[in-house]
Amino acid sequence: MKKIIVANWKMELTYHESIVWVRHYSKEFGAIAQEFNTKLIVCPSFTSLSSITSDLSITGIMVGAQDVSAFERGAYTGDVSVLSLKQLGCSYCVIGHSDRRINYCESNDLIGQKAALLVQHGITPIICIGEKQKSSLQVTYDFLTSQLVPVIQSINKMSGPQTIIIAYEPVWAIGTGIIPTRDDLNETATWLRTFMDSNFSGVTYILYGGSIDEQSLALLNNLVDINGYLVGKASTDPEALKKILCKSRLF
Ligand code: PGA
Repeated sequence: MKKIIVANWKMELTYHESIVWVRHYSKEFGAIAQEFNTKLIVCPSFTSLSSITSDLSITGIMVGAQDVSAFERGAYTGDVSVLSLKQLGCSYCVIGHSDRRINYCESNDLIGQKAALLVQHGITPIICIGEKQKSSLQVTYDFLTSQLVPVIQSINKMSGPQTIIIAYEPVWAIGTGIIPTRDDLNETATWLRTFMDSNFSGVTYILYGGSIDEQSLALLNNLVDINGYLVGKASTDPEALKKILCKSRLF
């Protein structure tokens, strides 16, 4: 199985910086991704999508958006439609990132609506979930369940093949340099796999995200239920991303 690395550029790069990054590095990263059997998904800001999609896809790098409107079309000022993402060549879309849950009060139901809309239009949702504070595994599982149920319910209603990516990102691990212990992550990933297998009818890939870099990877690599990583800050730094691509391993 290919490992999955999602480069979530957030709002770290401007329009011009994103274009320069892609012009300089996409060929090299496409080749590295191929050599290391990796599906690399780059998620820039909306504004860069139309300018970089063709350069990226020539090299085999996939493109994802960082969010989508919960509505297909209409009077939703400032929103971006799934229809436009599709036309721009996005195959993936991050939803429910904690930046958006926290800063824009996005609810689990809204994220469920977005997930269903993406699946309906053939875009694979990358659904971010994660507890806000470190707590016992059982408290964490209850919290993750509350985040997952609306997503699963809205997609299970649909017909046709369904593939989703769940990015487990404890909020306390994002951008902090603090990561879960290997044992805790292993247990949580196994719990997630079992939960999805018994509640979701489609295919689920599970990623870990939160302070992933060369060092944290060395501690968290190679867990049986983890299919890859969602990388924030380190993904805009070509050298750091290169190390992550080369050193990440699946079980
Ligand atoms: P980080 O971000 O890798 O900078 O911790 C992860 C994320 O926010 O998705």
